[in-house]
Amino acid sequence: RHSRRRLFSTLTHGDTASTHCDGDGVVDVNPPRGTRDFPPEDMRLRTWLFDQFREVSRLMAFEEVDFPVLESEALFIRKAGEEITQQVSSIFFLYLPFSPPSLLLFSRKSVSLPLKWFTIGQCWRYERMTRGRRREHYQWNMDIFGVPKVRAEAELLQAIVLLFQRLGITSSDVGIRVSSRKVLQAVLNMYSIPEHLFAQVCVIVDKLGKLTREEIEKELMSTGLSSEAVRGIIEVLSLKSLSKLEEVLGSGVEAVADLKKLFSFAEQYDYADWICFDASVVRGLAYYTGIVFEAFDREGNLRAICGGGRYDRLLSTFGSEDIPACGFGFGDAVIVEVCHLLKEKGLLPDIPRQIDDIVFPLDEELEGPASSIASSLRKKGRAVDLVEDKRLKWYKYYFFPPFYISVTEISLLATTRVFKHAERINASRLILVGNSEWERGMVRVKILSTREEFEVKAGELE
Ligand code: HAM
Repeated sequence: RHSRRRLFSTLTHGDTASTHCDGDGVVDVNPPRGTRDFPPEDMRLRTWLFDQFREVSRLMAFEEVDFPVLESEALFIRKAGEEITQQVSSIFFLYLPFSPPSLLLFSRKSVSLPLKWFTIGQCWRYERMTRGRRREHYQWNMDIFGVPKVRAEAELLQAIVLLFQRLGITSSDVGIRVSSRKVLQAVLNMYSIPEHLFAQVCVIVDKLGKLTREEIEKELMSTGLSSEAVRGIIEVLSLKSLSKLEEVLGSGVEAVADLKKLFSFAEQYDYADWICFDASVVRGLAYYTGIVFEAFDREGNLRAICGGGRYDRLLSTFGSEDIPACGFGFGDAVIVEVCHLLKEKGLLPDIPRQIDDIVFPLDEELEGPASSIASSLRKKGRAVDLVEDKRLKWYKYYFFPPFYISVTEISLLATTRVFKHAERINASRLILVGNSEWERGMVRVKILSTREEFEVKAGELE
């Protein structure tokens, strides 16, 4: 009971405390730091959000796939060198979203290309927690395999924009920063920086905005780059205009051509107002090879809402042949924060519980018939809550003569209670199974929105 009280207080007051045993040996059942419970109202919001993920995936003709949450340790050790591997230590048996989830499945299944897959699954990262960043979260991933052209990125960006639009978010609330890893590659080429430093430089540069310019410069210098190269990298990465980039790198550079193509697609898809070029976007994960992008809230309060890009050379790290691929991951935590920010605009839906019918026997003897009625309505596709009021039988004993109350009054007492229940669970109809009606094979139906009431044959209930 003590634990339950604590659990209840977690559900109602949030999840800030961590699990521990106090001096009395009482276990604190609060969720571990960075993880969440989903009480019904939060669960309804999550289901609604996942429905939107699924609907957008369907509109974009992606197929849903799934995979085990457990993966072999060896798979993650391959990723050594990324900052993110430090987050593996505590929970490395669980799926950690360092590689696109579909890719794992793809690498062990023979399929024909091109392929468009999506997943919605739980992920774990042992992260320092900030707003919208947790140690456990759900991620919607969309990945395209076998399409080398920028068309694939253009499709992914449309999926993200469609999702925002379905949630009622506009391009003035949220934007998507786009760049290409090839921009950085071109700068490294300009300074003849060796290939093997590329991934390392990407991870450092991804911290632009999180660390000061001096700290970034220091980290870059520590990889052995000259101060001239460090200055060059930082200058190019602060560019926010594609034409300026073209001026610096030249139009023959692949990065410029890819980005120009993507921005021209954006016009045709009609989401140009959502995307902007920002050379500082390189993304923290080492495997991206081309276009990279991440969505952000324009007020700048939150971390990336979603992010992804092209990763054409990742499959070979799993021992397979490389295949062009790109995709994105979209978490549930940051977008809910965005919706909370937009709550004042009334965008976060208040999703009530939805029940079609409440079937309520007005006498213990009528529980059998009430069960048949509930069962047949459920078979017809209606959501039915079969309720009983255990107090029904006690009312009779409580009210001894001369305080005896009539059967009608007992029913009235009970129905008042059931009405309150109906309101709480947002039911549409109340079906009362009472003795006098049931003797005639009838039940009393009350439409709760209009308070209209009528009798109907039990077998004819629709
Ligand atoms: P990521 O940028 O690390 O990419 O994560 C993608 C999204 O997942 C983030 O923008 C955020 O919405 C959510 N997310 C990540 N970590 C957390 C966290 N600790 N707490 C809450 N939400 C989080 C990837 O994970 C890539 N594997 C995505 C990908 C798929 N790239 C290609 N295909």
